[in-house]
Amino acid sequence: MAILVTGAAGFIGGNFVLDWLAHHDELVISLDKLTYAGNLENLASVTANPRHIFVHSDIANSVVISELLAKHQVRAVLNFAAETHVDRSITGPDEFIQTNIVGTFKLLETVRTYWSNLDEAAKNEFRFLHVSTDEVYGSLSKNDPAFSETNRYEPNSPYSASKAASDHLVRAYHHTYGLPVLTTNCSNNYGPYHFPEKLIPLCILNALNGKNLPIYGDGQQIRDWLYVTDHCSAIRRVLARGTLGETYNVGGWNEKANLDVVNTLCTILDELQPRADGQSYSTQITFVKDRAGHDRRYAIDATKLERELGWKPAETFETGIRKTVQWYLANQQWVSNVTSGAYRDWVNQQYQA
Ligand code: NAD
Ligand code: DAU
Repeated sequence: MAILVTGAAGFIGGNFVLDWLAHHDELVISLDKLTYAGNLENLASVTANPRHIFVHSDIANSVVISELLAKHQVRAVLNFAAETHVDRSITGPDEFIQTNIVGTFKLLETVRTYWSNLDEAAKNEFRFLHVSTDEVYGSLSKNDPAFSETNRYEPNSPYSASKAASDHLVRAYHHTYGLPVLTTNCSNNYGPYHFPEKLIPLCILNALNGKNLPIYGDGQQIRDWLYVTDHCSAIRRVLARGTLGETYNVGGWNEKANLDVVNTLCTILDELQPRADGQSYSTQITFVKDRAGHDRRYAIDATKLERELGWKPAETFETGIRKTVQWYLANQQWVSNVTSGAYRDWVNQQYQA
């Protein structure tokens, strides 16, 4: 028996594989296309683990995936693979449609064929868990209640629209074919191995390199931050106890304005690695042109997950953000490897450096 984790060389998928291996004895097959966001160094600590296999493949490759499913008698597929950066979806949406919609569809078809041929007991045990985002619900005004699972889907970016389409396909495969699916919709994650195109790692690295900390618009957009290992524990819980066909919102009860997040990072850096000139890193904050169609506020109501499955996050924003800054300070080799080549082209184009 084994589980198959797609997008396993990315930020959350990689953290999930490490977390899973620390909690379970089962074989884990990590599958990843290794796009610009996929990084095998995220899995370096488990490369020699006999309970771990890495396979380089696209989720759309039904030949590779059906062979893996049959050979290892896979009992669960967890789909983290996706194009994930909103800004990239604005400048180049094609890959988002290809992976997030067509790729998820192909994966569902491959999994459905495998699952339909299992014996009754194995069929009942099997799970397909789809990892999705709170962005499918659109944007909240200041006083709106947080997103619950019954909110309408109102995606606003090519990224969130492609994730919404994938969620609908997953739902349809349960309703039409009976595929045993679960979907999680999570808020913004942060923590180790976060690719530095996203706000928190970008600002930590820019601060240390004496660069501007780019704040889009007025910096008052709100995100609900969740430490990545809390997301991993939520997914383990949903996989073990979730009701088939249901969706579960996952969030950290940590709504913060972007400017406050970046100021917090600066305060921690001022303490842990003060600037040579004695000034605060916050002097590097720079307001830049806003993101097109920028969602104003996300907030997750994670009550269902707590009430039905007893899950709660372990980290507060204060504990999680400190651990995150410490991780980046302690892992400068990972940082310098990840910020070479294609990464520099993206940063130059996006911020016109
Ligand atoms: P990421 O960009 O760090 O990693 C995505 C991984 O998927 C990369 O390793 C990439 O190589 C791989 N991949 C891309 N296309 C592929 C394909 N066609 N076949 C196989 N692998 C492919 O993303 P992440 O932040 O780790 O996000 C993982 C999942 O969680 C995504 O589905 C995302 O929508 C969802 N999510 C992310 C957040 C967040 O804050 N990062 C929050 C909620 C939900
Ligand atoms: O809400 C979950 C989503 O969170 C995931 O589904 C996405 O995959 C993930 O990328 C993330 O999306 P965001 O767009 O919220 O994350 P990002 O880190 O890109 O931006 C966070 C906020 O910071 C957002 O309001 C935009 C702003 N921002 C971002 C960057 C990169 C800036 O102000 N400056 C920046 O340079």
